[in-house]
Amino acid sequence: MPEISENVSLKPYNTFGLEAKAKYFSVFRSVEELIEILSDHKYKNEKKLFLGGGSNILLMNDYDGLVLRNEIIGIEVVSENTEKVVLKAGGGENWHSFVLETIERNLSGIENMSLIPGTVGAAPMQNIGAYGVEVKDVFVELEALNLWNFEIEVFDKDKCNFGYRESYFKHEGKGKYVILSVSFELSKKPVFNVSYGAIRDTLDQMGVKELSVKAISDAVIAIRKSKLPDPAEIGNSGSFFKNPEIEKTLYESVKQQYPAIPCYPIDENTVKVPAGWLIEQAEWKGKRIGDIGVHTKQALVLVNYGGGKGQQIADLAYKIQTSVFDKFGIKITPEVNFIS
Ligand code: EPU
Repeated sequence: MPEISENVSLKPYNTFGLEAKAKYFSVFRSVEELIEILSDHKYKNEKKLFLGGGSNILLMNDYDGLVLRNEIIGIEVVSENTEKVVLKAGGGENWHSFVLETIERNLSGIENMSLIPGTVGAAPMQNIGAYGVEVKDVFVELEALNLWNFEIEVFDKDKCNFGYRESYFKHEGKGKYVILSVSFELSKKPVFNVSYGAIRDTLDQMGVKELSVKAISDAVIAIRKSKLPDPAEIGNSGSFFKNPEIEKTLYESVKQQYPAIPCYPIDENTVKVPAGWLIEQAEWKGKRIGDIGVHTKQALVLVNYGGGKGQQIADLAYKIQTSVFDKFGIKITPEVNFIS
């Protein structure tokens, strides 16, 4: 049975770098270890928080329960033909290390998602994505432990019900499963996705003549480093809000007053608007309030300069939501999970 420690600081386990203590804390390296911990009577009635990389959570205060960190690792080939490889990775694998491993193996599919913080197991939870590619595009299936009966269930793409930063695990499946492993279908023959202008511009600046998965990954890393704060230096959780999907009629009426408002079409009646633009227009970009603030280079990212509290960040988020709504009549909602 893995050791269970008491009164553990969660500061190293959340990328916001918030100070909060867990009543109990442990890690599991296999499903057997996880079941062992969960079967222990001492902790049966404790509430539980399952952590991956801690890169999408806002700890509101000390956690009065058991925090369990997924450290199940391992990468294996499930199947292979001349064109494709299915790789299965442990839920506790670091996402970016996994991406680099696929690039090392000359496989294509997830290079656009380089440098996203977090773990493989957390990736399907909110269908992570960047620069034109989402996890759902390469997803095959995942294995998850059902926390009610301790059975391992397999979820295919349909069962995961992926949407923009959404999945079954954020709704009906919330709190009911722990993701143990995820399988991805990757391509031996590269399929480059350079639809995002910023990638093309960066590749040009880098003087890249011939496209490769490595070159795309390097370009994505360069873009992310130029815009997004490194959690090792400034605490943050990436995009704090989702980009709102709004009715075209609302978009058109806002556009009359603010002709520069950008949008990405979703379907006939819906468009997505960059929340970063809305927040910048509402004059929050770069604002600092004591130990916390809005990132200077990307208004979608809230930051903890050190010593900030979860509640302060939640208050700031609320103020931003309110002022964006007052100015544009558009609701923005957090992507980050509030934990209390
Ligand atoms: N913009 C501004 N001001 C800002 C930030 C953005 O005006 O301060 C506008 C610009 O017009 C820009 C547009 O917003 O052209 C889009 O900005 P960006 O390309 O930086 O992307 P984003 O929509 O802000 C999303 C994801 C990111 C992902 C990037 C690239 C969400 C919530 N965020 O951000 O994902 O890296 O696209 O694909 O969808 C994350 O989820 O944590 C994350 C970092």
